Amino acid sequence: MADERTFIAIKPDGVQRGLIGPIITRFEQRGFKLVAIKLVTPGKEHLEKHYADLAGKPFFPGLIDYMNSGPICAMIWEGREVVKTGRILLGATNPLASAPGTIRGDYAIDVGRNVCHGSDAVESAQKEIALWFQESEIVSYKVSQFDWIY
Ligand code: TYD
Repeated sequence: MADERTFIAIKPDGVQRGLIGPIITRFEQRGFKLVAIKLVTPGKEHLEKHYADLAGKPFFPGLIDYMNSGPICAMIWEGREVVKTGRILLGATNPLASAPGTIRGDYAIDVGRNVCHGSDAVESAQKEIALWFQESEIVSYKVSQFDWIY
């Protein structure tokens, strides 16, 4: 579906390291459309909701502290199979297992500082978008360049 959406976040290390631009560029150049973006420090309660599935994991408290350590660049990207393809652009959870050419494979080496987040399924994307954005923050527009891509 051309209008599938995913939630992509640049984590505090990615923001502090000046990687907002390069990460946006990779999604833009692949042919995806940015339909929402903001810098946020949402607080622990919100981050615990976002990572609720991982609440029992030993790394959970450290993960929440890391995510709470600075602003996060929260985005919604739109396009054909953007959920699956977004995960490919990001690379594997552990950057050491990520191929060069992926975001984590090019910019990270530590699983606890892996620069970016991307929804892992269409259903979780819908939940994450609803958690991080109001409907009024999402825009709809036509990009004439996409007439060539699609
Ligand atoms: P997870 O949802 O499994 O991976 P992904 O972000 O690729 O969807 O885990 C969420 C985050 O938790 C992950 O990006 C980094 C952190 N994490 C650790 O710090 N240690 C670990 O052993 C794992 C599996 C994840």
